[in-house]
Amino acid sequence: MRARRALLYMPGDDLHKIRKATMLGVDCICMDMEDGVAFTRKKNAQETISKALQTLDFGRSERLARINPVGSGMEVNDLNAVLPAHPDGIVIPKVEYGEQITWTSTQIADFEERTGWARGGIILIAIVETAMGIINLRAIASADPRLCALIFGAEDLAGDIGAQRTPEAWEVFYARSALVTHAAAFNLQAIDMVKIDFRDTPGLIIESKQGAQMGFTGKQIIHPNQVNPVQDAFTPGDDEIAKAMQIKEAFAAHQQAGMGAFALDGIMIDAPIVKAAERTIARAVAAGKIKGNSHP
Ligand code: COA
Ligand code: MG
Repeated sequence: MRARRALLYMPGDDLHKIRKATMLGVDCICMDMEDGVAFTRKKNAQETISKALQTLDFGRSERLARINPVGSGMEVNDLNAVLPAHPDGIVIPKVEYGEQITWTSTQIADFEERTGWARGGIILIAIVETAMGIINLRAIASADPRLCALIFGAEDLAGDIGAQRTPEAWEVFYARSALVTHAAAFNLQAIDMVKIDFRDTPGLIIESKQGAQMGFTGKQIIHPNQVNPVQDAFTPGDDEIAKAMQIKEAFAAHQQAGMGAFALDGIMIDAPIVKAAERTIARAVAAGKIKGNSHP
């Protein structure tokens, strides 16, 4: 499992922001061709992303490109423009049907075959941000082995269902929770909504922690100032890691002694608590805080 705690967008036609992003130590850099780019600048975005992929050192950041929606009429040109420069993955917005994922995967497979690149090497991430997407989550989440993560898009969803966005986000809570549940069911990462008022760092920390508590493994971001608060919120703390290891060891010892449930510091520990502890350890490994196997 690769850590995708923060996924930073920038308009794909803005080389200055792409270059800046490569210096931030952010887990994922997502160069956009969709809604962050004006209609008149789509071609510039394709060319700039291709150039950035070929010339910039992204360090340990994942190199992602967001295409326009499958069915928009722009997706073929977007893919043809960026695939030759070998991004690590493609982000597909406004996904409503599993077929949109399998179509993209087939395009990539054809490309990999032609170029001799390892088959399946380029990953997919799907943004679900419409009412239709939410009710089809099961088909989307199970569509294709390239799919690594689902992203929840709150702004588009609110627009689609006629909700008004509030800081508490109750208007999108059902969809947010449905997405994280479907991601878990199909062993995918779940990446939470954007906080668009990017100067509100205290609010960002609260929203990030809430997302982590819900089971999200990361969050979309739009500004450099959001990188550290978000990556910190999705990295288990030292105390949390120590506790998780203690639980895992104590559970193994009690299993040996024939006990499935036992008390540790006044708290009942049994199998589901151990599973949560194993997830914490896996996230700590993925974030590079401890060594070990990041598969829970
Ligand atoms: N990625 C990389 N660098 C970014 C950035 C981003 N998303 N957002 C801002 N920066 C850079 C700026 O270029 C500026 O760099 P400089 O100091 O070298 O000139 C610095 O960070 C500070 O930026 P700031 O002045 O605070 O913000 P801004 O007014 O330039 O930009 C936004 C504000 C919202 C336009 C910008 O953050 C942005 O484009 N975000 C992404 C939007 C997007 O991709 N949306 C679609 C997906 S939801
Ligand atoms: Mg969107």
